[in-house]
Amino acid sequence: MDNPTQLTRHAREFIQPLLGGRQPTIGIILGSGLGGLADEIEDAVAIPYHVIPGFVGSTAPGHAGRLVVGQLGGKTVLAMQGRFHFYEGHDMLQVTFPVRVMQALGLETLLVTNAAGGLNPAFQTGDLMALSDHIFLPGMAGQNPLRGPNDDSLGPRFLPVVNAYNQELRDIAQEEAGKQGIRFHQGTYIMLTGPNFETRAEMRLLRAWGADAVGMSTVPEVIVAVHGGMRVLGISTITNTLNPDTTIEANGEEVIEVGKAVGPRLVSLVKAILPRI
Ligand code: HPA
Repeated sequence: MDNPTQLTRHAREFIQPLLGGRQPTIGIILGSGLGGLADEIEDAVAIPYHVIPGFVGSTAPGHAGRLVVGQLGGKTVLAMQGRFHFYEGHDMLQVTFPVRVMQALGLETLLVTNAAGGLNPAFQTGDLMALSDHIFLPGMAGQNPLRGPNDDSLGPRFLPVVNAYNQELRDIAQEEAGKQGIRFHQGTYIMLTGPNFETRAEMRLLRAWGADAVGMSTVPEVIVAVHGGMRVLGISTITNTLNPDTTIEANGEEVIEVGKAVGPRLVSLVKAILPRI
């Protein structure tokens, strides 16, 4: 990707006139099968990714590939209906570019969702988990979106991420989930590149490392959001459970189906959270 700062400006200049004077404050990234939330957004303007400068097309199944800006839960939100994954062949700058554009547009908070496999034996299919921490395996292996020259006007060269997941936002999510009787956890998410699911030996390893859920996204966007000073709330839908003691296999259709089935629960939780943030 050439000159990210310039591209970010082009994207902002393209999007801003389409917002009709509205100032979105909350960015929402909708993961596999979770795009239904965007249909709840009122007075919506939808912008397909392929017309936005710097955006790559979305190829992953269950991802519509458009920005939807409008009103939800009393807030002006900018939702990504579908995200870019590293496994699609995009580099980390492309994967995280929309978060840079959110920052350029003045958004303060990122609500990021994903589909994840449950590693914690207490988790059941359909549960929700707020990320309280993460393990960024691709980042640890050198694939970090902050690698390369640092633009000091965006954020610091060396970024602390101990408090990446805002405690206050997690508490609100937990409380609202409790009110709605939603099975809800807080835990550690580990990102692997995918696209294959885990072997049983890998499941054992990830559990031993303290991961509660595993997925193929989210952490690069969170790193860039924190770098640019945004508050972050991350929510995983546990679309399948992973058990190293069985030969039951995860499959992509199930991930999307469960994501869709849990969608209404996530929508009602997000609608309860938004007025409070
Ligand atoms: N593994 C990795 N990513 C996932 C899974 C899984 O089991 N389920 C949904 N995303």
